[in-house]
Amino acid sequence: MRISVIGVGYVGLVSGACFAETGNNVICMDIDAQKIERLKEGEIPIYEPHLEEIVKENLKEGRLEFTSSVEEAVAHGFIVFVAVNTPQDEDGSADLRYVLTVARDIGRCIEKYRIVVIKSTVPVGTCEKVRDVIGTEIKKRGLDIPFDIASNPEFLKEGMAVDDCMKPERIIVGSENSRVEEILGELYSPFVRTGAPFIGMDLRSSEMTKYTANAMLATRISFMNQIANVCDRVGADVMKVMRGIGSDSRIGPKFLFPGVGFGGSCFPKDVRALIKTSKDFGYDFSILQQVMDVNEMQKVLFLDRIRAFYGNDLKGKKFAVWGLAFKPNTDDMREAPSVYVIDELTAEGAACYAYDPKATETAAAALKDCGPVRFGKNQYEVLEDADGLILLTEWLSFREPDFDRMKSLMKGLVIFDGRNQYNPKTLARLGFQYLCIGRPHRESAHE
Ligand SMILES: NC(=O)c1ccc[n+]([C@@H]2O[C@H](COP(=O)([O-])OP(=O)(O)OC[C@H]3O[C@@H](n4cnc5c(N)ncnc54)[C@H](O)[C@@H]3O)[C@@H](O)[C@H]2O)c1
Repeated sequence: MRISVIGVGYVGLVSGACFAETGNNVICMDIDAQKIERLKEGEIPIYEPHLEEIVKENLKEGRLEFTSSVEEAVAHGFIVFVAVNTPQDEDGSADLRYVLTVARDIGRCIEKYRIVVIKSTVPVGTCEKVRDVIGTEIKKRGLDIPFDIASNPEFLKEGMAVDDCMKPERIIVGSENSRVEEILGELYSPFVRTGAPFIGMDLRSSEMTKYTANAMLATRISFMNQIANVCDRVGADVMKVMRGIGSDSRIGPKFLFPGVGFGGSCFPKDVRALIKTSKDFGYDFSILQQVMDVNEMQKVLFLDRIRAFYGNDLKGKKFAVWGLAFKPNTDDMREAPSVYVIDELTAEGAACYAYDPKATETAAAALKDCGPVRFGKNQYEVLEDADGLILLTEWLSFREPDFDRMKSLMKGLVIFDGRNQYNPKTLARLGFQYLCIGRPHRESAHE
């Protein structure tokens, strides 16, 4: 099939490359001309495992092309996916200006029947808005060109995006007629061969499904963070509790890890957008407000622990920071807890020497307004003379570090672990003070 993807970010680039990988003829379009030029050379602007291989391979095979011309994209694709960003607006709602700009652009240059598929995460009713905007633009041109609109929310996880895209757990398609659902079913058939469900529904239910999924996952995380805070007080170990409840099939083991709070480009903005949509429709979605408040508080509590450890005086302290991206296997710094933590530490007179396996470049931009932050080339370099280590992203290379080497480099043998990566008993034996989330600091016979 001839496919176009408008908006070449984490979602658009991965989706475009995966559609090409299954034999489709794909053009990806973005207004960022510099990004497009780099992509034409096979240079990938983001870090995402396996993405580079499939982009390069499909470029070489001629199944994947890049352009900054929206006319070219709309002329090419029988199906035109819209995957532009929908950031948070000032009032918490989703800022739809990029989606609606694309809708106007499509309406201005569409020449024959197209299926326009909204892949961006958009509030309920947006697909209908997009349909109206395209229709108005066509009318302004004195033409009557048929087109259909569909909603196809994306559920990929950054850091596993290619895998998730090639082997989705389900495909959701919202549409207004069964022919569109059938065509998209055909496009997705190679992706759901192993039995993942293809679920067709109406536009509004599809839009709502995406927000519901993210809101539910964010709620699990905030819930577990509060359980961890109670564990801390009552002397229980949240990691054991997590295993205990995760084996219950009604609960399941995923998205139960407590930590320093969720970040990223989706959960915070999507939860806030759902709160706002609910409010606009006269409903107070109170649980979700709590989910966000708990998430903010989690970062504060973590910092308070660091402050308290040093008698509330961080002036002149030197911290090594392991991990900056909002989660492992990505370079995405959007709403990463590291920004808050480093900003606060440096504002109180501490210096941070940070290392992230992939996010140094994006972190340098995200942390540019903070106080003194330097970036190391490896995880050990940043430990030299550090008064403490702060772990914020659970990259694999931090899991089994060389503790003896760490001891020889650090001035203060203390680890503040925002991701519960280590065994408290082992670290105590090694001579480290270890402050983590929701686990007792006393010895236990059950370690
Ligand atoms: N990142 C994720 O993990 C993820 C997962 C699921 C859904 N989503 C949703 O998918 C959408 C895209 O997210 P993303 O992370 O890929 O965003 P992104 O910021 O990485 O990329 C968006 C791209 O759209 C381009 N763009 C903006 N306006 C444009 C226009 N008028 N014409 C052409 N290109 C334009 C930007 O230049 C940018 O390259 C968002 O709605 C997001 O909520 C994201």
